[in-house]
Amino acid sequence: ARIYIPRDAAALALGADKVADAAAREIAARGLDAVIVRNGSRGMHWLEPLVEVETPIGRLAYGPVRAADVASLFDAGLADGGPHPLCLGLTEEIPFLKSQTRLTFARCGVTDPLSLTDYKAHGGLKGLEKAVAMAPADIVKDVTDSGLRGRGGAGFPTGIKWKTVLDAQGPQKYIVCNADEGDSGTFADRMIMEGDPFVLIEGMAIAGIATGATKGYVYTRSEYPHAIAAMQAAVGIARAAGVLGANVLGSGKAFDMEIRTGAGAYVCGEETALLNSLEGKRGIVRAKPPLPALQGFLGRPTVVNNVISLASVPVIMDKGAAYYRDFGMGRSRGTIPIQIAGNVKRGGLYETAFGLTLGEIVDTIGGGTASGRPVKAVQVGGPLGAYFPRALFDTPFDYEAFAAKDGLIGHAGITVFDDTADMLKQARFAMEFCAVESCGKCTPCRIGSTRGVETADRIARGIEPEKNRELLADLCNTMKFGSLCALGGFTPYPVLSAMTHFPEDFSPSPLVEA
Ligand code: NAI
Ligand code: SF4
Repeated sequence: ARIYIPRDAAALALGADKVADAAAREIAARGLDAVIVRNGSRGMHWLEPLVEVETPIGRLAYGPVRAADVASLFDAGLADGGPHPLCLGLTEEIPFLKSQTRLTFARCGVTDPLSLTDYKAHGGLKGLEKAVAMAPADIVKDVTDSGLRGRGGAGFPTGIKWKTVLDAQGPQKYIVCNADEGDSGTFADRMIMEGDPFVLIEGMAIAGIATGATKGYVYTRSEYPHAIAAMQAAVGIARAAGVLGANVLGSGKAFDMEIRTGAGAYVCGEETALLNSLEGKRGIVRAKPPLPALQGFLGRPTVVNNVISLASVPVIMDKGAAYYRDFGMGRSRGTIPIQIAGNVKRGGLYETAFGLTLGEIVDTIGGGTASGRPVKAVQVGGPLGAYFPRALFDTPFDYEAFAAKDGLIGHAGITVFDDTADMLKQARFAMEFCAVESCGKCTPCRIGSTRGVETADRIARGIEPEKNRELLADLCNTMKFGSLCALGGFTPYPVLSAMTHFPEDFSPSPLVEA
């Protein structure tokens, strides 16, 4: 029997290694013919560690499993899929998973992340096999036609970015994968790198062949040690198997890549600060233009794409642009891995076509708050995203629909808050976060964020509240239009949305000491 115990960081944080050790001891002690596979996560975080067993009718799930449960699971015949109070039935039938459309995450949690054989058995490398036989411009056209937009947050059409690099002249071009997933409450990039690293490698190789870039870098964070280890191991395996190197899949075309680790500054997720850091310089933002597509890493034409954008390319090449484009709504095509976090009953990764409403995501899929109290606000798009009240729960998950409500989808992280949240404190937190993470290059962000904290404190103390509310809104306006990058430019989203939708929290309360 094959017993799956995740090695994903979320499962590890909940004791998956201890569960795996206990399972190994039971298998040895009972002389069972069973192997433990350390897979990625299925993304149902409230059920982690989620243990699965392969049976003739499919994979059965048990969770959440603690090390202390393991002996009783084997007593109940775990290796043969025996009944147990922790049994959740067939994994694929769990409603949270069954209702998803998994294109990018199709293999995550299913395969052994470091088995290329398993990867191929589940449809891996088909996209790259097609791409190596195509003209670069045709690959770029397919990606453009698929409607794929940058999943890091900005939603810029991936195919157009690639075309800029393809058309650019230069002795060397680069593919840089932005894996510096800094948004609080997001984990899609990490889950791919830990759970299906070959799909990112395949996507980067396709990007390289499409644009004429022979060298790639994954820039990730030191806070992601398991992702770094998985990516490094996977790159070595892919190189040894001829998926990477001077002769990709025997095509005569070259592409190779390396993993690089940053030191943990949020701003290094901004593409130009990332490029500086990758070059060994201090991670401060560069002015655009020039665009990285024309003068990026070491001044050469560079594709900078998020993990999810690149990891979505193999399925597009394999199944065709139209297949991908047929999912979604409006100008938001394909699927989006929504990361549900915060005070929520069922948190985790939910990949679905664009178009579900925020209310469906929070109430139906997420099951409302973990505390059981009413939902007060949902922050969509990470720490720089707007707070949405229940009144806006009919907003469909779509780039334009969120922009129309003064919000953003960003990297598709949503954080749920119950009615105990103080939105003035949240607004202050946004300014404080910006002050701490600012690279210091431009004045509205560097100084404005600190003035923002002070102004929020004055409102909290009841000092000239009306004047200070106006001042805070005015400051937001200056930061929004005067900042050089999204850190200073987007901090006003959480602040202004909190002020607009929850004005009662911004009324003077002389008792609060900041
Ligand atoms: P942007 O709108 O300036 O640029 C988007 C991308 O398109 C960039 O890569 C840019 O170089 C490229 N581009 C623009 N015009 C082009 C052209 N003509 N040809 C080729 N490429 C072109 O947005 P930016 O500042 O890169 O990203 C902001 C977003 O980052 C926000 O929406 C935010 O949601 C997101 N973000 C994501 C985080 C995460 O952890 N994933 C953290 C913080 C912010
Ligand atoms: Fe640096 Fe902030 Fe200006 Fe961005 S907005 S360039 S982080 S100072």
